[in-house]
Amino acid sequence: MKAYTLVKNGKAEEAFKLEEKPTPTPGAGEVLIESEGFGLNFADVMARLGIYKECPPLPTVIGYENVGKVKALGEGVTGLEIGQRVLAFTRFGGYADHIITPDIAVTPIPESLSIGEATALATQYMTAYYAVEECLSLFEGDQALVHAAAGGVGTALIQILKHKGVTVFGTAGSEEKLGYLRSLGVDYPINYRQVDYLEEITKLGFQGKLDATFNPIGGDYVKKDFALLNSGGGVVIFGASKMTEARGNIFKMLKMVFGFGFWSPIKLVTSSRSLIGLNMLKIADNKPKAFQRALKGVVEMSNKAILKPTVGKEFDHTQLAEAHAFLESRQSIGKIAIKW
Ligand SMILES: NC(=O)c1ccc[n+]([C@@H]2O[C@H](COP(=O)([O-])OP(=O)(O)OC[C@H]3O[C@@H](n4cnc5c(N)ncnc54)[C@H](OP(=O)(O)O)[C@@H]3O)[C@@H](O)[C@H]2O)c1
Repeated sequence: MKAYTLVKNGKAEEAFKLEEKPTPTPGAGEVLIESEGFGLNFADVMARLGIYKECPPLPTVIGYENVGKVKALGEGVTGLEIGQRVLAFTRFGGYADHIITPDIAVTPIPESLSIGEATALATQYMTAYYAVEECLSLFEGDQALVHAAAGGVGTALIQILKHKGVTVFGTAGSEEKLGYLRSLGVDYPINYRQVDYLEEITKLGFQGKLDATFNPIGGDYVKKDFALLNSGGGVVIFGASKMTEARGNIFKMLKMVFGFGFWSPIKLVTSSRSLIGLNMLKIADNKPKAFQRALKGVVEMSNKAILKPTVGKEFDHTQLAEAHAFLESRQSIGKIAIKW
């Protein structure tokens, strides 16, 4: 089988090496899948840059999600058939044309979904689904802020929130992305490169009125988001993209870390506001039923056309470095996927 191994941290064009490896045999409870393609996530960019804590030591094969056909079933696997088209999660190992994964991480999908659409439903839509449905309780008429709103998780959050009847504020870094946010029905698109989002939302009269913010940026954005919350509201923190700006600069890194602030539980109790951390790898490890609920939830909502992933671009596997650089450039909209 073929796999792209991450051999070096740093620039995309020097980081990956295409290697021939023995095709594995599935053990008990495992499934072997011949991959049509795989999805990219911002965590992959952070892993390549050497700032992703969960990444295994190099050389390693990264990647979380594949679309393909079941090629072999390990002992005891039921409910899946050879040749069936599936979406599968991997805990790394996804940048390969064959993958092995436990059967609970595999779900059948229709032929009609493209590689980009199907892989978007995996990490990005499941993170969004879990953040909205399990981290908080949101209701029609509530108000929420989504950062990096034009990205993969951002698009998913908007679609889920709008389906629930939530008013959405969304931040993004270009006018093209703001147009995209309007097309998704975002009520208040904000270009954070032109205005300070906290000042802008305050000017619009919503300071202290938001029920939720979804924050993958980290640093001082957490404090700023907290200031926007109403009583009962929560900031869901699920990333620290600001680390990419601070990488290699100890002062910027410290500023980023201190920017998060130091939090007393007393402040949370007296103001009745919450900070909620989310890491889907930990949910997969320690709350498998909730993980499966999220997987079932996104596949059902996709089958009903409530969720329609946006595919920013599908690249050929020979363009993996280009695809990585594009995601890192912060220009991408929606999902970036790779075809074998
Ligand atoms: N905790 C979890 O389990 C989990 C799971 C999935 C994803 N995530 C996190 O969710 C975030 C989004 O992931 P994704 O795969 O959907 O990526 P993405 O949103 O498609 O791409 C990243 C986008 O983030 C925006 N961004 C804002 N500030 C940034 C900064 N300082 N540095 C880099 N990018 C910045 C950029 O758009 P604009 O600048 O235009 O806003 C960029 O296009 C990432 O932080 C990722 O690590 C966490």
